[in-house]
Amino acid sequence: MSVEKSLEGKVAVITGGGRGLGKAVAAALIERGAKVVIGNTTESQGLATVEEFNTAAGAKVAAFKRTDITTYKDNIELFQFAEKEFGGVDIAYLNAGIAGNATDIIFMPPDDENDSRAVEVNTIGTMKGTKIAMLHLAKRGGGVIVTCSSTLGSNAVPSMSAYVTSKHGLNGWVRSFALLPQICNVRVNAVCPHFVETDMLVPNPDQLARGGPILNLVDKIPKTTVENVVNAVLLLIEDETRNAQTLLALPGDVIREQEATAPLPETFTPEFAQVMGSYAEDYVAFHKKELEDYLKVYEEKYGNKD
Ligand SMILES: NC(=O)c1ccc[n+]([C@@H]2O[C@H](COP(=O)([O-])OP(=O)(O)OC[C@H]3O[C@@H](n4cnc5c(N)ncnc54)[C@H](O)[C@@H]3O)[C@@H](O)[C@H]2O)c1
Repeated sequence: MSVEKSLEGKVAVITGGGRGLGKAVAAALIERGAKVVIGNTTESQGLATVEEFNTAAGAKVAAFKRTDITTYKDNIELFQFAEKEFGGVDIAYLNAGIAGNATDIIFMPPDDENDSRAVEVNTIGTMKGTKIAMLHLAKRGGGVIVTCSSTLGSNAVPSMSAYVTSKHGLNGWVRSFALLPQICNVRVNAVCPHFVETDMLVPNPDQLARGGPILNLVDKIPKTTVENVVNAVLLLIEDETRNAQTLLALPGDVIREQEATAPLPETFTPEFAQVMGSYAEDYVAFHKKELEDYLKVYEEKYGNKD
């Protein structure tokens, strides 16, 4: 079936696009005419995926750069690389994430590195990616960022405490950007998939050796499909009314907005709403100028010189 080329001329950066959900979204964007740049920690996986896409298209539609999203250095180099390869960036799907040994830490021996890993990658790595993506999209005149959260960004499974924490943090990050389109025409959203059959759900040898009820639970939890997650991401990219949204992709091909997790507190009186209204105006004016100034500094420091 041929797909309408609605994204012809667009360029997308996809983190963790070497396999799983990131790879599936990359394929859907290419099908719609976009060029994609994949940033992945695993070089062999990223290179093989890009080769697969380019061979199938008979043209250069994809490129790869080894990227660890936990560093600004790698995030900046990834976006600069995309600009060099394809002329600029319009879409960022910040999908890279981990589960595995960093998922459930409360009963494990204290370990500074492992215990902060889920938040380091899933939350802070995605925050860093958002900041750098925003600059590149703003420079292009606007665009859209989709981060990858989870239904565990609003709900909890006891055996996944650190992962749940990381995705709750990510939802808060995304919900903070209601005013961003007014500043730089960039929208930020999160897709929140339910469990999906990808390699992420395959336990590694350490998890198998440890055992525990989570191993059985994962098998029994209803799953959504990769296709449903891809459709939710496409909706967040293509529907320009969607901003600061956490969009659920659920079993049964259901895609719907996450309801607000808490009602507004009673301190949110009509008088306070008025205060917030004028604060919003000041916020937009202040940060428009701040961003304009910072973009010049960023370009001077990191811009492609050749
Ligand atoms: N599979 C699920 O059940 C499920 C459910 C909800 C949300 N998610 C989220 O979907 C996203 C994609 O997961 P998936 O299921 O495709 O898993 P996956 O393990 O198949 O893919 C994750 C990708 O991210 C890459 N990656 C990991 N750490 C990285 C880093 N520091 N820098 C750059 N790349 C890195 C990996 O190399 C891999 O290519 C993740 O954010 C995950 O939390 C998955």
